[in-house]
Amino acid sequence: MANLNPKHARESEVVTRYLLMPRDVNQHGTAFGGLIMELIDGTASMAASRHSERLVVTASIDSLSFLLPIRVGEHVVLRARVSYTGKSSMEVSVRVEKENPVTREKALATTAYLTFVALDENGKPRAVPPLLCETDEEKHAFERTRERVAARREMRCKHDDFEVCE
Ligand SMILES: CC(C)(COP(=O)(O)OP(=O)(O)OC[C@H]1O[C@@H](n2cnc3c(N)ncnc32)[C@H](O)[C@@H]1OP(=O)(O)O)[C@@H](O)C(=O)NCCC(=O)NCCS
Repeated sequence: MANLNPKHARESEVVTRYLLMPRDVNQHGTAFGGLIMELIDGTASMAASRHSERLVVTASIDSLSFLLPIRVGEHVVLRARVSYTGKSSMEVSVRVEKENPVTREKALATTAYLTFVALDENGKPRAVPPLLCETDEEKHAFERTRERVAARREMRCKHDDFEVCE
């Protein structure tokens, strides 16, 4: 039986790190954007799977900002949290920090929001547990995200030249 009891984001949070190697950098000596995107997608999908207790697919990468370059030898520290739940979709926010392994100095390097959809055994969207918001701050954040998700959905339908919205 599906467990659709509300769940707090901390229950599914995923924190992981990756050591940036020479093979991972571009001609500027900094991390390939594509590699960081892959790490973000993988980490975020684990948080979405843990929340929904289902297999998930990435429906969209909603925003991605590269704020600082990451260099060889630095640790790429990724923290993924479910920030919103719809019926079958989940928004996951990912903070990527770069960390100097010697001094442990950290800086926010990349931020991203992605949407995942939980699937049933037939590969169809399936309901996910609602996100449990305990504090006033969490409740306000959820409301802000609800507005962001609604605006995004509207934009998707309004400005989609590929005609995926009917
Ligand atoms: C994402 C996918 C499962 C949605 O299927 P669908 O039949 O269009 O589903 P629905 O229209 O019923 O929408 C289901 C949910 O997905 C959301 N959704 C659908 N397309 C979306 C998109 N492009 N971006 C964000 N959310 C989307 C809907 O808003 C809805 O959310 P809700 O249930 O919380 O209200 C389907 O489009 C798909 O399989 N896409 C390919 C995924 C993929 O291959 N990803 C890369 C590898 S993981």
